[in-house]
Amino acid sequence: MNGTKLSANQSNRDAETPPLEKGGSGDFPTPADSGTPANPPRPPFEKGGSTSTEDAGILIEGLRKRYGAGDTAVDALKDVNMRVAPGEVVGLVGPSGSGKSTLLKCLGAVIEPSAGRMTLGGETIYDNAWKTRDLRALRRDRIGFVFQAPYLIPFLDVTDNVALLPMLSGRPNGEARRRAVELLEALDVAHRAKAQPSQLSGGEQQRVSIARALANQPPVILADEPTAPLDSERALGVMRILNQMASQYRTAIIVVTHDEKIIPTFKRIYHIRDGRTYEEAGEGRAL
Ligand SMILES: Nc1ncnc2c1ncn2[C@@H]1O[C@H](COP(=O)(O)OP(=O)(O)O)[C@@H](O)[C@H]1O
Ligand SMILES: [Mg+2]
Repeated sequence: MNGTKLSANQSNRDAETPPLEKGGSGDFPTPADSGTPANPPRPPFEKGGSTSTEDAGILIEGLRKRYGAGDTAVDALKDVNMRVAPGEVVGLVGPSGSGKSTLLKCLGAVIEPSAGRMTLGGETIYDNAWKTRDLRALRRDRIGFVFQAPYLIPFLDVTDNVALLPMLSGRPNGEARRRAVELLEALDVAHRAKAQPSQLSGGEQQRVSIARALANQPPVILADEPTAPLDSERALGVMRILNQMASQYRTAIIVVTHDEKIIPTFKRIYHIRDGRTYEEAGEGRAL
């Protein structure tokens, strides 16, 4: 096992800024509402996993993935170990073919690992077999995705792009839209709330896609090359936002990247080579 000890910055977390809500966010659970900042209530989810605060965030142990069988089998993941605390943003860096996409697909419950253990938001979702039967609900409620391209829905306005997933999860429309506008405010794009995606700049679209990833308050966000097409200033802006959102919403964020512009911003980096992870302290440059 490579070191999965949490970095010293965890001790700062209790002092982090409170969530944006100044009340009035209905029954949408927030850390402020719950009075338990480190482990806010989540939507109902299959019991059976660990629920300790220790394990909240992302915990991956001994994860393996073999594609195919026999002579043509490919061991894409051989021994992946990662721990990301709530409120933390870590980098995942590795060359082409090292297993990054396979790992994201396992974490996103898109493909099934071959062995190992994965815990998301305090619930064990995989322990040498799926622990949850409803993988669709898992993807919808537990994991936010941010991609290189924003993939906004062109015929919905900005607010509804953000509110869609909570509505699909059963939130009342009005509440989902109010929540969407709060997130758009936090991301400095609320003035575009009624615009169509095509009317937005690339940077605005990316911020809307981050709001969308946060809309269901997932304990985990997976970001795949979120800054690749952006210039240095905007790339650092996206990282600043991801870090703010992580601490405000206690989200654990993994950013897959080889973008040299943002690598110095991580406090911790996991390198992946030939299906194995290696942890390294990052520069943690201020944003
Ligand atoms: N569906 C698949 N079937 C067989 N081999 C695969 C499949 N997907 C990926 N691989 C192999 O698994 C290894 C890791 O691939 P991948 O996770 O895509 O790496 P990365 O995203 O870091 O480029 C590579 O050797 C790749 O060829
Ligand atoms: Mg890939």
